Amino acid sequence: MDTLRDKVCVITGAASGIGRAIAHALADRGAHIVAVDLDDDGVRALADELGTTALAHRADVSDPDAFQGVRTATLQRFGRADVVVNNVGVLTNGLPQDIPVAEWQRILDINLMSVVRSNAAFVPLLLEQGRGHLVNTASFAGLFTYAYDRMPYAATKAAIVQISEGLAIYLRPKGIGVTLLCPGPVLTNIAAAVPTFGGGAPLRTPGEQFELLDPAPVGELVADAIVRNRFFVPTHPQVVDELRRRLDDWDAYIDYQISRKPL
Ligand SMILES: NC(=O)c1ccc[n+]([C@@H]2O[C@H](COP(=O)([O-])OP(=O)(O)OC[C@H]3O[C@@H](n4cnc5c(N)ncnc54)[C@H](O)[C@@H]3O)[C@@H](O)[C@H]2O)c1
Repeated sequence: MDTLRDKVCVITGAASGIGRAIAHALADRGAHIVAVDLDDDGVRALADELGTTALAHRADVSDPDAFQGVRTATLQRFGRADVVVNNVGVLTNGLPQDIPVAEWQRILDINLMSVVRSNAAFVPLLLEQGRGHLVNTASFAGLFTYAYDRMPYAATKAAIVQISEGLAIYLRPKGIGVTLLCPGPVLTNIAAAVPTFGGGAPLRTPGEQFELLDPAPVGELVADAIVRNRFFVPTHPQVVDELRRRLDDWDAYIDYQISRKPL
């Protein structure tokens, strides 16, 4: 896709943080935004900021019917969808033996099944159109492991990495681009209300080499990746160093992570 001008872009988790920054970056380049979020006030405020061509749509992405509703609302308003950004993600905290199975299920439904259901609603449409672009927000936590206190989150993000790579191989020859956004630490509301099980675990950070970024440049990276049809978008180049280190000797990498002290 060589320009975002007049493109219809559906973005989930658009009311806050990275989703909000992506919405602004795409709108700045002339796109029409369908802003989807559980936070009704937040998504309406964003649509007001973006102007008359933005549509606010309240939905819980873990609801099995949510994406059919998003698709219908998008087609009614704009008649097509060019870009779909699957960006919602939530954290949960606890040691492996303390996180209940029901909490695993909740995180799977929000973080992973939302991507599956979005694909079920929008991939046939993009195939029919013969053009378009998907963006999936995973995380560096889906590429390598620096903490054991957020396994459901990391597992969903690793699954999103795999789904995205498979879709890229399938869809690129059909004229549809796929971008895998893998943010490192970004200053958003993601840590504001994280459920904690079993009294919690000592916080394990990814390491001092990962600086905390503002969301705005992340939005710009995504806009560039869509226009340049790029797949892998890490926000921190150190992610690549970390992957190389693990590939080099996976046992040594695990020993290195064990040796790092929690905060
Ligand atoms: N912030 C980081 O450091 C970081 C790092 C790596 C990956 N990520 C990923 O970036 C993405 C965006 O996160 P963020 O940091 O901007 O968080 P955020 O909490 O600031 O924004 C998330 C948005 O998703 C919405 N949301 C939550 N549950 C929802 C649901 N069930 N249905 C619809 N909307 C829902 C929230 O209302 C909020 O507006 C997530 O997938 C997250 O995993 C963030």
